[in-house]
Amino acid sequence: MIHAVATRPFADQKPGTSGLRKKVKIFQQPHYAENFIQSVFDVVPEKEGATLVIGGDGRFLNREVIGKAIRMAAAAGFGRVIVGQGGILSTPAASNLIRERGAIGGLVLSASHNPGGPDEDFGIKYNVGNGGPAPEKVTAAIYARTTEIDHFAIFEAPDVDIDTLGETQLADTIVEVVDPVASYAALMERLFDFGAIRSSGLSVAFDAMSAVTGPYATEILERRLGFAPGRVRNGTPLEDFGGHHPDPNLVHARALYDLMMSPGAPDFGAASDGDGDRNLIIGRGIFITPSDSLAMLAANAHLAPGYAEGLKGIARSMPTSAAADRVAAALGIPCYETPTGWKFFGNLLDAGRVTICGEESAGTGSDHVREKDGLWAVLLWLNILAATGKSVKQIATEHWARFGRNYYARHDYEGVESNAADALMGGLRDRLAQLPGQAFGTLTVEAADDFAYEDPTDGSISSQQGVRVLFQGGSRVVFRLSGTGTSGATLRVYLERYEPAGGRLDADTTEMLAEIAAAADQIAQIRKLTGRTAPDVVT
Ligand code: G1P
Ligand code: ZN
Repeated sequence: MIHAVATRPFADQKPGTSGLRKKVKIFQQPHYAENFIQSVFDVVPEKEGATLVIGGDGRFLNREVIGKAIRMAAAAGFGRVIVGQGGILSTPAASNLIRERGAIGGLVLSASHNPGGPDEDFGIKYNVGNGGPAPEKVTAAIYARTTEIDHFAIFEAPDVDIDTLGETQLADTIVEVVDPVASYAALMERLFDFGAIRSSGLSVAFDAMSAVTGPYATEILERRLGFAPGRVRNGTPLEDFGGHHPDPNLVHARALYDLMMSPGAPDFGAASDGDGDRNLIIGRGIFITPSDSLAMLAANAHLAPGYAEGLKGIARSMPTSAAADRVAAALGIPCYETPTGWKFFGNLLDAGRVTICGEESAGTGSDHVREKDGLWAVLLWLNILAATGKSVKQIATEHWARFGRNYYARHDYEGVESNAADALMGGLRDRLAQLPGQAFGTLTVEAADDFAYEDPTDGSISSQQGVRVLFQGGSRVVFRLSGTGTSGATLRVYLERYEPAGGRLDADTTEMLAEIAAAADQIAQIRKLTGRTAPDVVT
């Protein structure tokens, strides 16, 4: 019954930090998805009889690839495949299921916040037994396998019905279709004080961006927390996300932003991305940067039952602002600065060194799963608002008055010609040693380096993770190239200005960052080398 089909290696199947992400048309090539999935299965040790979790964000191709993956898992000898009903599982819910059900790993089908549809993006990530993204040694082994693989095995049978809850048998494998929301919602209910949120009188607007968090938010916010029906907007997952980028930032979640800045704004606004791991937080009349959100959540997490005992430590990615560092210092706990990408947090979480982690790219999470978690951040904010009776604006203002404020913005230059991007980064690296002491307007460079990280849990070293230029007084600019784009290069420039407590805490971010933005251009020669006069996206 098991059918082996010869296939040819696709040498470009290189999984990056978020798995394999390509255009749908590429995934539609004969055997492309199968080849990658088989390469994953080939490097999973002891899969005989083991449990595998499969689900995705509902984008175009989701069902088709899940159908194949289930039949391939049966051919590979997995004992049990747990699939989200309708093929739906948010990334954090998949992480939770892997952990809860003791699975050996999971396939998560998503291209995160990238658009979906026949001409857009698709992706496959492999998560390991701790529920987190596969570490580099695993993705490297998967890649190596894709270059030599010459067949894949698939169980020949019609696709299993993934819309009906319950178990079916496929060869020796049990396929179990589960409610994608139930165990995730139960986990949230254990971490947060749903009673307090329910009786807080808060008003909420949540934008699911026609992506995977729709069913999760509807169940948790509307059914369990009692927010009025309709508080979850765009709550039905669509294959093309309604033609939008399911990216919860001020550009793509503009409608939510406008609502939150309008006179009739609710108390709290939030959005999540394609696969549910990112979050956007906006209070009435105030946007909270992800870096600030991490710091404010860390400072107040003890108000939620799941964190009542305090935090073990905090981790942030290098380009994330240093706001969280100040909270860690005040709490007397360690703060780790890691390279970009969630997987670096996994080791720290597994080792019990940190409880909360976050990235400037709208990813925040904790040791409850091994992925960032959009709805988790939303619920922690709601728990804090309910417990304190304060508004988002009050929480933010009081936070800055105590710790100072890290004004922050990220400028993205998208679709830059790869050679130009490489020349820019290469030039920067060459000039690093000459930067200290140089002045740009009122800013003087204190230090400059190419970020390298030694993982304290296993001693592994990741180098060339981005160029940091630190100015005297705690302001900073960071340059790095995106590792997740699907066309050309994306240059990310992270601007940060620190204003100590007692300083200008209520100023306009663009104005406060203008001098640093000008310095960034001088330092990296952005206009000259890319021909761009302005970033494509500012977040
Ligand atoms: C981006 C974000 C990064 C995040 C990653 C996966 O990566 O910047 O923080 O971990 O997506 O969601 P980048 O494109 O910058 O390499
Ligand atoms: Zn995502």
